[in-house]
Amino acid sequence: MKTKIVANEIVPKTLRSVSIVGTGSYLPKRILTNADLAKMMDTTDEWITTRTGIKERHIAAPDQATSDLATEAARRALRQAGLTAEDLDMIIVATVTPDMYFPSTACSVQKAIGAKKAVCFDLEAACSGFLFALETARQYVGSGAITTALVIGADKLTAITDWEDRATCVLFGDGAGAAVVRSRPGVRGIIATAMASDGNLGHLLYLPGGGSRNPATAQTVKDRLHFLKMAGKEVFKYAVGSMLSASKEVLKKANMTIDDVDCVIPHQANMRIIRAIGERLGSPLEKYYINLDRTGNMSAASIPVALDEAARAGFIKHGAIVLMMAFGGGFTWGATLMEWRKPEPSQKISSKDASRVRVSNAQKRRFSTNASNLW
Ligand code: UT7
Repeated sequence: MKTKIVANEIVPKTLRSVSIVGTGSYLPKRILTNADLAKMMDTTDEWITTRTGIKERHIAAPDQATSDLATEAARRALRQAGLTAEDLDMIIVATVTPDMYFPSTACSVQKAIGAKKAVCFDLEAACSGFLFALETARQYVGSGAITTALVIGADKLTAITDWEDRATCVLFGDGAGAAVVRSRPGVRGIIATAMASDGNLGHLLYLPGGGSRNPATAQTVKDRLHFLKMAGKEVFKYAVGSMLSASKEVLKKANMTIDDVDCVIPHQANMRIIRAIGERLGSPLEKYYINLDRTGNMSAASIPVALDEAARAGFIKHGAIVLMMAFGGGFTWGATLMEWRKPEPSQKISSKDASRVRVSNAQKRRFSTNASNLW
């Protein structure tokens, strides 16, 4: 039996309930497989698969910037929500790979879709960025300050990937996911959120060059400081502990247990991390939506892409309680618990978008086959 929720215990009295009313995602066309990587460097499909669960990842074209990926996802989310760009009051893009320092990637998306009245800004919380941006939007929409926000997680991680570092370059991919956020009368929507940071651990996952600490010079480029650096083993350990604690916190805030959760959308970094969390939370892996086998880790894009695919493929059912959890550089981490409702009848999925769902299902089936070899 589901735990009874008393709304005021979960959302402060001053906030009205806030829901995701449309989602969209975009993955670039080009696919780089583990076999392709094995031809480029000293690695194997076997190593990558057993250590991470990743089989392939999408790679943006050289002329595609993060805002281009984000714009595609944004259009799909708006279409599903039955809204236009002119309805948007706010656009937040969570990313660690902005098109450039400024203007913000969110402003570039605004220009591309014609969201004339939206206030736009980027938010940087690495792989936790989408959940942090979603909570930011919830505060604005929930307080009544605005009506409609577009929250995007988008990253072109291959732009900061060191292809000479086999310990990191096999992990990442490019993509974007978006969610339209509004208050929907009579719907609980987002039930509880937990967010946390620990700057003491920043040195374990970072990009040292190009900022004000080490402005770009020929030397910083020669020293490869413009590429992401990661201490994989340490990050792994913190990732499991942090996502576990954030998940427990939101369940506690909502007065729920893990058994009340119907579906989990975890950050898609490593299948071993997801498995460890599933075991420690006591929730079966069948409840977890996994796409990392064909996307790799897309940082801020991982959760919204997985959410969009899972919702469109029917993996998340109408009325389901969904737990999302993320962890990333900073360190940052968080979790969001929400009740999922299908888009309104007036927000039907277009036939173009429905064809994407079929692809997604086929890929999911392939993953299930592969998955049995992994754990
Ligand atoms: O999204 C942000 C959060 N990021 C994460 O959550 C990532 C967390 N970390 C991880 O997922 C894992 O630590 C990795 C997948 C990055 C690495 O797995 P690991 O089991 O921790 O491997 P390792 O780094 O300890 O390396 C083990 C061995 C080493 O060889 P030796 O020293 O044992 O001889 C590496 O040199 O594997 C070697 N190795 C590789 N071998 C083949 C490292 N990368 C590769 C590779 N192919 N690509």
